Amino acid sequence: MLILMEENYEALSREAARMVANAVRRKPDVRLGFATGSTPLGLYRALVRLHREEGLDFACVVSFNLDEYIGLPADHPQSFHSYMRRNLFDHINVRKENVHIPDGNWTGKCIEYCAHYETLIARASGIDLQILGVGKEGHIGFNEPTSSLASRTRPKTLTYQTTQDNRADFAPNEQPPEAAITMGIGTILEARRILLLASGAAKAKAVALAVEGPITASVSASALQLHRDTTLLLDREAASELRHRDYYQRVVETTRKLNPERLW
Ligand code: GLP
Repeated sequence: MLILMEENYEALSREAARMVANAVRRKPDVRLGFATGSTPLGLYRALVRLHREEGLDFACVVSFNLDEYIGLPADHPQSFHSYMRRNLFDHINVRKENVHIPDGNWTGKCIEYCAHYETLIARASGIDLQILGVGKEGHIGFNEPTSSLASRTRPKTLTYQTTQDNRADFAPNEQPPEAAITMGIGTILEARRILLLASGAAKAKAVALAVEGPITASVSASALQLHRDTTLLLDREAASELRHRDYYQRVVETTRKLNPERLW
């Protein structure tokens, strides 16, 4: 795991955009895994800017989203379909047919639909770069605590904490969804590279547990310790509970000298 620490959210978003843009430039048909939530918004804004101002080309990019609420119409403003259109896809030249987001209103058997989503990823030769956020309890995607570290795309019940965190996004008379389809931890770990973004003090504990705690199903993000090419991009607050910050900084400096490719 490589831990990069930036001063604030703006710097973190800029750096994330630089990394993703480099991945697109190096491999125009790169397979990108996208996340939702408030954390990647700055990254998406920066990518839109790079597309408009520098012609960053998404024409051949293929994308797979991590998750989607179950039962929410795709055109509901809080669906992840709407989120992705509003914040990224409507503003770049990605092709509709290259975009994949789990369908929270599938027809047929859920388990078969989830297996189909996995097949789509496999047929695209897997994900080159998976972007992740992290929940306050350390979940990635919607892999809530106790999710198997080997889990695949499947329906998942959301915890009370997650539904509470989501409540603010829904009208007071609306019940936030209580279940979602999410890529599993096993699915996520198959991505060639992983970039996890975390910002703000509310994420500091989850980040510390993911990096310095044991690998445990209680903290899904700790499974990233098993991945050989994961980068955590943190702002100062999200990094504040890490005990070995100076060491991580030195690792970045050495990496910059010896293996600059690792830093994108
Ligand atoms: C949700 C999403 C995750 C996201 C997390 C944190 O649970 N399924 O993909 O990382 O929220 O969201 P935020 O970035 O808004 O804190």
